[in-house]
Amino acid sequence: MKRSRIVNILASQEVGATVTVAGWLRTKRESKGGFCFIELNDGSCLRNLQVIAEERLSNYREEVLRLQTGSALRVSGTVLESPGRGQAVELRAEVIELLGETDPESYPLQKKRHSFEFLRTIAHLRPRTNTFGAVARVRNAISFAVHRFFQERGFIYLHTPIITGSDCEGAGAMFRVTTLELDRAPLLDGHVDFSMDFFGSPANLTVSGQLEAEAYALAMGDVYTFGPTFRAENSNTPRHLAEFWMVEPEMAFCDLDGNVELATDFLKFVFSYVLDQCREDMEFFKRFIDPTCVDTLEKLISQDFERLSYTEAVQILSKAEESFEFPVDWGCDIQAEHERYLCEKVFHRPLVLTDYPKTIKPFYMKVNRDKKTVRAMDVLVPKIGEIIGGSQREDDYQTLLDRMNELEINPDAYRWYLELRKFGSAPHSGFGLGFERLVQFVTGMSNIRDVIPFPRTPGNISF
Ligand code: 4AD
Ligand code: MG
Repeated sequence: MKRSRIVNILASQEVGATVTVAGWLRTKRESKGGFCFIELNDGSCLRNLQVIAEERLSNYREEVLRLQTGSALRVSGTVLESPGRGQAVELRAEVIELLGETDPESYPLQKKRHSFEFLRTIAHLRPRTNTFGAVARVRNAISFAVHRFFQERGFIYLHTPIITGSDCEGAGAMFRVTTLELDRAPLLDGHVDFSMDFFGSPANLTVSGQLEAEAYALAMGDVYTFGPTFRAENSNTPRHLAEFWMVEPEMAFCDLDGNVELATDFLKFVFSYVLDQCREDMEFFKRFIDPTCVDTLEKLISQDFERLSYTEAVQILSKAEESFEFPVDWGCDIQAEHERYLCEKVFHRPLVLTDYPKTIKPFYMKVNRDKKTVRAMDVLVPKIGEIIGGSQREDDYQTLLDRMNELEINPDAYRWYLELRKFGSAPHSGFGLGFERLVQFVTGMSNIRDVIPFPRTPGNISF
C-alpha cells in the first residue's frame, strides 16, 4: 500500500481508513493489558502519530516490545478516533515491520532535550529532533515563498555561476578554485602562474550573483537569483557562514525607492506566508525558542519599516547614551551593535538605512550628487542586524570606470560589466537577502549554524 504522510492523516482524520505509514520511533510506552503505544514521526510535521500495537501482532513479543528509540518502522493499520488527550486520531496497527533497528547504547538522541552545541556535532541526526525538523520545514516554506513572491510579479529566475573570475563585493574574501597542486604550482616571476590553471586565469567561488544578474536584468527587466554564495571571511559569529544562500533580485528601470519598496513588500510577503503555512512549527518556536517570534512577525506585516539615511543614523548613534565597542563618526562602518541599537532601542522595528559613504561600500553603487555618498540600502532587523544589502547601481560608464580606478580595481577583469554601461545602459537596482539570516529572524533561532542543514564555518567541515 502507498505510504501516507502523518501530516495528512492527522489533518484529514479519516476514521476507519486503512493506511500505511513509515517513520522513526520517538518513544514507546508499554501498557497493562497486552498492548503498547508507539510515537512515530516521519518528518512531515512536528506531531507524532500514536500507534497502538496489540499482543495479537505476530511479532509483538520478539520485535515490537523490543523496539528502540530511533528505529525505522513501517506500520499498516486502521485510523481510529483517539480517546487520549493531545490527538484526534491514532493508528491501530495490523502489521508493524521493523525496517532498521537502532542500538540504544550508541544512539545519541535518547534524552528529550540536547544542547544545540551538542547537536551540531551530530548534524546527520539532528533533523530527527523537534527543533531541527521544524527549522527544515520552515526553511522549505520560506524557499517556496521566495519563488512565489517573485514569480507572481513576473521576475525571471536566473541561475548565476558558482565559479567566477570576479570579486563582486571587492572584499577579497574568496575561496580559490584551482586544479593546480598547491605544493607544486607552476611559477612565473616568483608568483603562481594561473595561465597554467584549469581556466587559464584565477578563479574563485562566487560571493554574489549580482554582477551576472545585472546583465540579465538589462535584457529581461526583472530577474532574481537564489543560490549558494561563499565568503572566506574569518568571522566566527552567530550570523556568519562561509557558505550561505542568497536571494538577489535585480530590476531594470528601478531606482533606490523602488528597491526599498520591493524589499519591504518581499519581507512582509514571506512573514505572512510562514504564519499562514507553518502555524504548528511557529507555535513550537514561540514556546521553546523565542516567545516573541510570532508576535514580531504579525506586527511587522502591518507596520511600516522606518527609513533613514546613514547620516541621520550616525547623528542618533553619536548622541546615544550607550558605550559601543566601535566608536561612531561620519564615515565609519555601521557595526552589528549599532544596527541592533537602532532597531531595538530607538525605533523598535526594522529599519532601512540608505545613502552610505562611498568609502565603505563596493564599487558598483551609484554615486549621489554630493559625490560622497552612494545609493545604498541596508535593511536591518532586531536581534540580527543587517538582513538585506542592496543599492541602485552605477549606470554611467565613465563614473563607474573612475570608481574602479579610484579603488584600484583592474577594469580589464570587468570589461563585460562595464560594457553593459555602453550598450543601452539604464537605471537599475537590486539587493541581496541573506537567506539564513531570514530563517533565523523568522524562527528566533539564535545561531545561524542551526538554520542550515550542514553549516560551513571556519575550522569546521566535518559533515
Ligand atoms: O551585503 P552583501 O555583501 O551584499 C551583496 O553581496 C550584494 N552583491 C547583494 C546585491 O545587491 N545583489 O550581502 C547580502 C546579504 C547581507 O545583508 C547578509 O544578510 C547576507 O547576505 N550575508 C551573510 N549571511 C551569512 N553569512 C555571511 N558570511 C554573510 N555575508 C552576507
Ligand atoms: Mg552588506
